[in-house]
Amino acid sequence: MTSPRSVPVAPKALPLVGHLIPMLRNPLEFINSLPAHGELVRIQVGPFTLVMICDPELTRQALVDDRVFDKGGPIFDRVREVVGDDGLASCPYSTHRRLRRLAQPAFHPARFPGYAKAMSTCIEDVTGSWHAGQILDVPTEMMTITSRITAATLFSGALPPGELGPVLDDVKTFFDGFYQRMFMVPPLDRLPTSGNRSHVRARTRLRAAFDQIIARRRAEGVDHDDLLSALLAAHDAGGDGHGMTDAEISDTVVTFFLAGTETTAALLAWALDLLARHPGIERRLHAEVDAVLDGGRATHADLPRLELTHRIITETLRLRPPGWIFTRTVTADTRLGGHLLPAGSSVVYSPYLIHHRQDLYDDPEAFDPDRWDPKRPQPPRHALLPFASGARKCIGDTFGMTEAVLALATITARWRLEHRPGHQRVRPALGLALRPRSLDMRAEPRGRAD
Ligand code: HEM
Repeated sequence: MTSPRSVPVAPKALPLVGHLIPMLRNPLEFINSLPAHGELVRIQVGPFTLVMICDPELTRQALVDDRVFDKGGPIFDRVREVVGDDGLASCPYSTHRRLRRLAQPAFHPARFPGYAKAMSTCIEDVTGSWHAGQILDVPTEMMTITSRITAATLFSGALPPGELGPVLDDVKTFFDGFYQRMFMVPPLDRLPTSGNRSHVRARTRLRAAFDQIIARRRAEGVDHDDLLSALLAAHDAGGDGHGMTDAEISDTVVTFFLAGTETTAALLAWALDLLARHPGIERRLHAEVDAVLDGGRATHADLPRLELTHRIITETLRLRPPGWIFTRTVTADTRLGGHLLPAGSSVVYSPYLIHHRQDLYDDPEAFDPDRWDPKRPQPPRHALLPFASGARKCIGDTFGMTEAVLALATITARWRLEHRPGHQRVRPALGLALRPRSLDMRAEPRGRAD
């Protein structure tokens, strides 16, 4: 394996396993300790030698040069197992621009009022089923909201709530084992253990469910004004003029589902957790949603006036970025900072690490939505990258933000969520997305005086 020798090695590597134990037990604390050792730091995770980028400017440079810092490394090798080679988030540089041009019309601003309408309906359906005093498993409730939204906007109604359950179970199985599988080398990942077997079963079923919907839609030839219709209709005017193949559409649909549901659900769960810990901010949010929303349901027209709601979501993305760690593979010998990285090196960047740097943020551990108040001095550019940057920046950033702002506003207009006594300690679960391991909260309906 290629090893960039001039990059300093993080301390406390154990023989054989290197830094595997802190990366499995407490990776957030571990990666936050790395900037003290250099702008690039080498870590050894089991068989993988990885170069962690600890500096915001070098992170930007790597993200902008996506030909040399291409998708690959342990995370994307695993993502490709389920998504295939043609998924927009995991495809290599060589095919990316064409796929991105074909997918982009699905996220045209003109489509957002329609998406927002579907989002509001899903949010209302789920939160309207809660009852006073109910103990909510918040991450699961948020997953129900976001996956219903993805299903409604991706293939409007082709996956009704009744059929969504098994799909959600498979998505959950895929995410649950993901982080640990990342550091498993063959043949360990292929042994017939129950974990490996359910992982394979889940990804086969997921793929079959989506392929069926796509085949039906191609045969119908009707425009449903949803994401899938936009993908089916797209033609690459900037390239060969062709549309997406069935394999590309299938990979893209699976990608949207996986990239869009757990991330936004994790974001909302963290926002509700943080709000319950900051009653002053919660009160101000209640005042905002009471003043802006008509009938307690947030709509697309309300978005510009939900300023504090936006800032709360942005600060949650900073403090608990759902996309917390990503890998790249170096495709040609290159320099980054003062170091030579040979072709074949695996590089890691982490929005979490950058968002928690003391030199970029005052009191980085504090939840302070007002740091995003434009009247205050703003953190440096490149200090906030919950959606990455460069050509591989999240295509669903506005979609995810819209969804999160609408959901947080509607939930807090109608409900107060508080931690169950004895359940205040919320630990992160390690997956592809950073989400609360468990978060049980009691829902009480709000009177306007709350
Ligand atoms: C709060 C919610 C979300 C967060 C935090 C998030 C975060 C990210 C990040 C950090 C990346 C870059 C990954 C990398 O550098 O390797 C990314 C890429 C991507 N995301 Fe999101 N995402 C969110 C919501 C969504 C939604 C709703 C969708 C789709 C409907 C989506 C689809 C994608 C796709 C397709 C890519 C790959 C883009 C490309 O390479 O051209 N994401 N996302």
